[in-house]
Amino acid sequence: MTAKTIEEKEMSTATAYKNIRTATEGAIAIVTLNRPQVLNALNTELMTELADAMQAFDHDEHVRVIILTGGERAFAAGADIKEMAEESTVSMMLRDNLAIWDRIRFIKKPIIAAVSGFALGGGCELLMMCDIVVASETAQFGQPEINIGVIPGAGGTQRLTRVLGKYRSMEIILTGRPFSAKEAFDLGLVNKVVPVEVLLDEARAMATEIAKKSPLAVRLAKEAVLKTYEMTLNEGLQFERKSFYMLFDSKDQKEGMRAFMEKRPANFTGR
Ligand code: CAA
Repeated sequence: MTAKTIEEKEMSTATAYKNIRTATEGAIAIVTLNRPQVLNALNTELMTELADAMQAFDHDEHVRVIILTGGERAFAAGADIKEMAEESTVSMMLRDNLAIWDRIRFIKKPIIAAVSGFALGGGCELLMMCDIVVASETAQFGQPEINIGVIPGAGGTQRLTRVLGKYRSMEIILTGRPFSAKEAFDLGLVNKVVPVEVLLDEARAMATEIAKKSPLAVRLAKEAVLKTYEMTLNEGLQFERKSFYMLFDSKDQKEGMRAFMEKRPANFTGR
């Protein structure tokens, strides 16, 4: 698809959001963070719009996969420092802005992050709430909150450590140093590193592949993988087995297995 046709499509599906753009391409929804003047700093308004858009796509039966992306220069340079610089403990607790992030945590459809440029602080934490991360060669990651007198507040200490282990995440969080896409790949934080020109195409290719599967199986697979963060092995195995058995009441399971035996591609309907 050419840049022009994407733009036209985005215009035709544009909603009233101020800080993000949304578009759909068949079963794929694309959400683009769009505050380029501040490197997509994640203020309350943007995060509310993002959670609204993500939830709307989660409830839209035509959408099977969501791609979350930013601009070429920045995926997101973190929470909006200017918005919170003069806050107090009490005002932060009363506003409880970070609760908005939980709405993204509970999205059931797979989210693919397509990351170019800065993915710092809350930007890095946002991509860690996604399920697959494709990065451009120019992407730069980091948790620099320590440099401004705070700590990661949107899951960084927890999710980074679960991916990288104690020692590597401790170094990254305590020094606040940025790291490259190559290092992120070596650390297991991103799935693939590609030239910036093909970043979205690569995310689309993965999304297209996932969108062909049974959405019921995809939803339960995502849920089961995420349970490893919260459950013991025994609980997780029980959850997985029950989810596996549960799928045998779906038309998609019958279709998938019959298609295999009839040597034809399966046509999954999400029923
Ligand atoms: N919040 C608010 N504004 C931001 C921002 C942020 N996180 N990051 C960048 N901006 C703004 C800058 O203030 C600047 O605006 P002005 O032109 O009005 O001054 C504009 O974006 C462009 O930024 P720079 O001029 O700084 O661009 P640069 O190329 O020189 O540097 C950068 C880029 C290294 C990313 C630098 O902007 C930077 O260090 N940003 C802050 C990164 C950071 O500390 N993130 C963590 C935030 S705290 C957090 O996220 C808490 C949490 O866990 C939830």
